[in-house]
Amino acid sequence: MGNLAELLARRRTGYALERPFYTDPEIFRTDMDTIWYRDWLFAAAACELEKTGSYVTWQVGDYNVIMVRGADRVIRAFHNSCRHRGSVLCSAEKGTAPKLVCPYHQWTYELDGRLLWARDMGPDFDPSRHGLKPVHCRELAGLVYICLADEAPDFDAFAGVAAPYLDIHDLGDAKVAMQTTITENGNWKLVWENNRECYHCGGNHPALCRTFPDDPSVSGIGEGGAVPANVQAHFDRCESAGAPARFHLADSGQYRLARMPLKIGTKSYTMDGELAVARRLGRVPFDDAGTLLKFHYPTTWNHFLSDHSILFRVTPVGPTETRVTTTWLVHKDAVEGRDYDLQRLTEVWVTTNEEDRRVVEDNQHGINSPAFEPGPYSPLQESGVIQFTDWYCDSLRARLPGTQTRIAAE
Ligand code: FES
Ligand SMILES: [Fe+2]
Repeated sequence: MGNLAELLARRRTGYALERPFYTDPEIFRTDMDTIWYRDWLFAAAACELEKTGSYVTWQVGDYNVIMVRGADRVIRAFHNSCRHRGSVLCSAEKGTAPKLVCPYHQWTYELDGRLLWARDMGPDFDPSRHGLKPVHCRELAGLVYICLADEAPDFDAFAGVAAPYLDIHDLGDAKVAMQTTITENGNWKLVWENNRECYHCGGNHPALCRTFPDDPSVSGIGEGGAVPANVQAHFDRCESAGAPARFHLADSGQYRLARMPLKIGTKSYTMDGELAVARRLGRVPFDDAGTLLKFHYPTTWNHFLSDHSILFRVTPVGPTETRVTTTWLVHKDAVEGRDYDLQRLTEVWVTTNEEDRRVVEDNQHGINSPAFEPGPYSPLQESGVIQFTDWYCDSLRARLPGTQTRIAAE
């Protein structure tokens, strides 16, 4: 860790990280070991696991995890590795199975992970010792989180804060209207840095900017600046109608919730700013309640609107490769073609994702040059990026032996 400890020690807060943080395979592995394999990760929407036996698999670094809904409706997560000789049980990304049957020698597991059947294993074989290895799994208001650590950090504090904000969005009544996964040839932290500022929005996101305010006093709220009067009025209006709205940033910096206004006169992420779905998902008290913004490092940022919700999931693949999965949720009774037009529902974020992919890849490309020298973040426009990189460096320092010493910011 010598080199990383040194890099962390000389890190200047308010500046981009040094090149190895975005390129080095060793640091990528450390990110996986110290953050991705230890923190709670948003994995799926519960409605993706609609029926008994519905499953979703997810590759996180070296781990492959299967999430499956049991006959008791509980969603559980397991390592997707057979207890016989280790084959993956489910190679598809999603599906439905009455039992989990290993394709290799047909060991058969109950949906709760118990081994039910294994052929010719002899009289001394004890099936109860060969159930699937569980992965920590929690469902929060229709969102499935997992944790790969042996001992998971606390989830309840986050759940306690987030549940009231999410409750009125009725994600339990949702269905997936569309899901996309794009690959961005950039380090996962660049994907996040790009997400945490709207300095780039005016120059890159004409479709998003029709409805999303890129004014930093709105988009950067709570990361230092005062709450503008119009935003406070929006919070008060939402809260008096029963929709929790005010800004909440965790002490640890790991998650944030705030119900932010969209541009005046707009209601949803559409090209004309009108609602995208006639059969609304949730009980948001008025159409122009804006968007509940939630992020939870290191996996997810979300937008919960008055008519639909959008979930983003980040999956690091390699030092300069990250997948971003976007899931558009609508009410389960909303009918495509009648209640919503799929293209109209998704076009703003399909376009925005593509624009973000390009800027992240350009960012990575430039950083790959040995001439790259970390530049300063804008204190006005990029307070969210400063918050993210501080959280990242603080997390590494707290978890890696020998990296605790922090040099005062210059
Ligand atoms: S590896 Fe799964 S049954 Fe043999
Ligand atoms: Fe963007």
